[in-house]
Parts: sequence; C-alpha cells; structure tokens
Amino acid sequence: MFVGAGLLASLSPRVERIAGRLPRRVFVLTSPEIWALWGEAFSASFAEPPIALFLPPGEKHKTLGNAEKLTRQVVSAGGDRSSLLFAFGGGIVGDVGGFVAAIFMRGIRYVQVPTTFLSQVDSSVGGKTGVNLPEGKNLVGSFHHPLAVFADIDVLGTLPERELRAGLMESVKAGIIRDRTLVRFMEEHVDEILDRDPRALEKVIAASVRMKADVVNRDERESGLRMILNFGHTLGHAIEQVTRYKVLLHGEAVGWGMIAALQLAHRRGTISSRQAERLESLIHLYGPLPPLKLRAAKLVAATGADKKNMGGVRRFVLPVGIGDAGVVEDVTAAELESAAAFMLARAAERRA
Ligand SMILES: NC(=O)c1ccc[n+]([C@@H]2O[C@H](COP(=O)([O-])OP(=O)(O)OC[C@H]3O[C@@H](n4cnc5c(N)ncnc54)[C@H](O)[C@@H]3O)[C@@H](O)[C@H]2O)c1
Ligand SMILES: [Zn+2]
Repeated sequence: MFVGAGLLASLSPRVERIAGRLPRRVFVLTSPEIWALWGEAFSASFAEPPIALFLPPGEKHKTLGNAEKLTRQVVSAGGDRSSLLFAFGGGIVGDVGGFVAAIFMRGIRYVQVPTTFLSQVDSSVGGKTGVNLPEGKNLVGSFHHPLAVFADIDVLGTLPERELRAGLMESVKAGIIRDRTLVRFMEEHVDEILDRDPRALEKVIAASVRMKADVVNRDERESGLRMILNFGHTLGHAIEQVTRYKVLLHGEAVGWGMIAALQLAHRRGTISSRQAERLESLIHLYGPLPPLKLRAAKLVAATGADKKNMGGVRRFVLPVGIGDAGVVEDVTAAELESAAAFMLARAAERRA
C-alpha cells in the first residue's frame, strides 16, 4: 500500500517494479466522471495507455450483470491470463474491479487505485471484492488481494465535501477501536484534515490503513478479531436498511451507529462518561451527520437481519476505553433499543 501525493505520475514504473514488465493487455476499470477528471493523469506514466472500461456511478450498477458485461469486454479486447487490471475509482469501482479480476479466467492480477477517502482507508484494504444482488448488498463475492494499492491524496481534491466527511467516519472508527494516537491527531487537526492538507490526510489515511491491515492480517477470513471493524455498523447498517440506502452515506450511518454504540458501552461500563462524550464530540467534529427521523424499535428489528449475527447470536462491538474494543454476544434487544433511542434523541437535538 502506497499513500501520498502525486502517485499517479509514476504509477506505471511503480507497478513494474512490483509486477515486472507490464503485460500485453492492461485494463483500467473506472467511471466516466472520474476518468474525465483524472484519466489523463492516470495514463500519463504508461507508454501505451491502458484500455479503459467504464462502470456508471451508483450502487445500483454494482451488479453481477455488469461484472459479466465487463468480463466480456475484457475478452473482446484481447485480455488473457496474463492481463493486468487497474480499479480506478471509489469503493464501487474497487469492489467490481476486484471481482472481475477474481473471476476472469479464475483470477488475474489487479491493482487498486482508490479515489474516495472511504475507498482509500477501508474498501481497498482486506481483499474483499464483490457485487450486490437484488436481495441484498455484497451477497456475491470473493477474496482476491490486489498486487498493490496506490492511494493518491491529490485525487481527493475533487471529492465532494460530504463524501470526504462520511469517509472520515471510518478513520474515527479506526481510532476508537485500535489507535488512540489517531483519535488525538483527529481531534487536534480538524481544520487541516477538512481542508485536505496533504500531510494531515496522509497521516490519517496511513494510520487507518495500518489499523485495518493489521486486523485483517491477523484474521483473514473474519472469524474473530476482524469483527471489531464493525464497530458502529450494527445500528449503522440498520439505519441504511430502514432508509433504503437513499438518505445517508454509509459513513454517516456509521457515525450515528457509533454514537449509539458509545452509549451502550458507557451503560456497560467499558468506557467512562467522559470518554463517551469526548468520542461523540469527535464524531460531530467531522459531521454534520444528517438528521434522522426513525423509530428505535424499527431499527432494532432491522439489526435482526444483520448478516454478522451468526447463528442467532447478536454480536456487538464495544469500545473499551479509547483505542481498544471487544466483541460481546449478550447484548439484549432492550439494550439496543435504549442505545438507539439515545442516538435518535441526539439526532433530534441537532435538528432543533
Ligand atoms: N471491499 C470492502 O472491504 C468494502 C469496505 C467498505 C465499503 N465497500 C463498498 O464501497 C462502496 C462505497 O464506496 P465509496 O464510498 O467510495 O463510494 P462510491 O464508489 O460510490 O464513490 C462515491 C462517489 O464519488 C465519486 N468519486 C469518486 N472519486 C472521486 C473523486 N476523486 N473526485 C470526485 N468524485 C469522485 C464517484 O463517482 C461516486 O459518485 C460500497 O459499495 C461498499 O459496499 C467495500
Ligand atoms: Zn463501514
């Protein structure tokens, strides 16, 4: 994983250093918008520009049908076992690109060049690839690790502000569950980070990636430790589901979910009230989180469908102090509902 400014300018030689001479066919999966903004910079270091394949933006295009279509485009453009694919875009392009690379001829090499904050700190790390089904998100997929990940900070310059703030919630999460230095850094450098100061962003991205890579390396297939990455996601996913993925960005839902989880942790005594307040303030520093108008009971019902609740056990990630977390399996529906009610009250205060 490479994090820094100006990486695109030397992309091709950097990849050759890792993978050897580039193969006959090099592909880049991207979206039309990103290509219009950054396509020239992307191609600049290649002797022969990669063959561009396009996926329109939006979760509704992350489908098996499009994965098939793209795979067929690779075939008709002369792709073979030796071909190399770049996934150049946000998490959607990354997930679909990785999946196409995983299934084409049982797997070809690929490189992630993530362009959203979220994809730089989260989705490009860990090797999960996949697409959605009408029945649910990410239901078809595969583990397929990229040769390398290049997170170019310059590219974030054109990212909409709301996408940046939402992505930063995953870094707040990273700090809370595993890195108190990151928590402190994010508290002390809010303006630089939101102004996209390259050095500040580089620090936050590198720390977030280090955290996730470390957790994933210790628990590749998600049996135990990896579960802590779901901090804030139990109610976060519930909010997304109840609002049909139309109202909030993922990171925003996770922001609210973390506020609920902090309250639950405080009730259980794994964090003090001062710590809970401090962390909640940190979340709001990178807000504003959009308002919510939901019912707590409905959210709790939606967590029942959370695929992470294996075998009927309600697994829940609780922070322990600042920079540590654990998983408990005995959280009751009543506890969840009261945490959700607390969160909704907070959301109502902020609307007032
Ligand atoms: N594989 C994993 O481990 C993992 C982890 C988390 C999330 N995900 C997946 O990631 C996806 C969400 O990814 P995302 O948040 O990056 O959203 P996204 O890919 O939808 O990108 C968000 C929007 O920003 C635009 N955009 C991207 N980069 C830009 C740039 N540099 N400048 C201007 N506009 C830009 C995109 O065109 C899009 O409209 C979801 O499908 C989710 O399931 C995967
Ligand atoms: Zn997330």
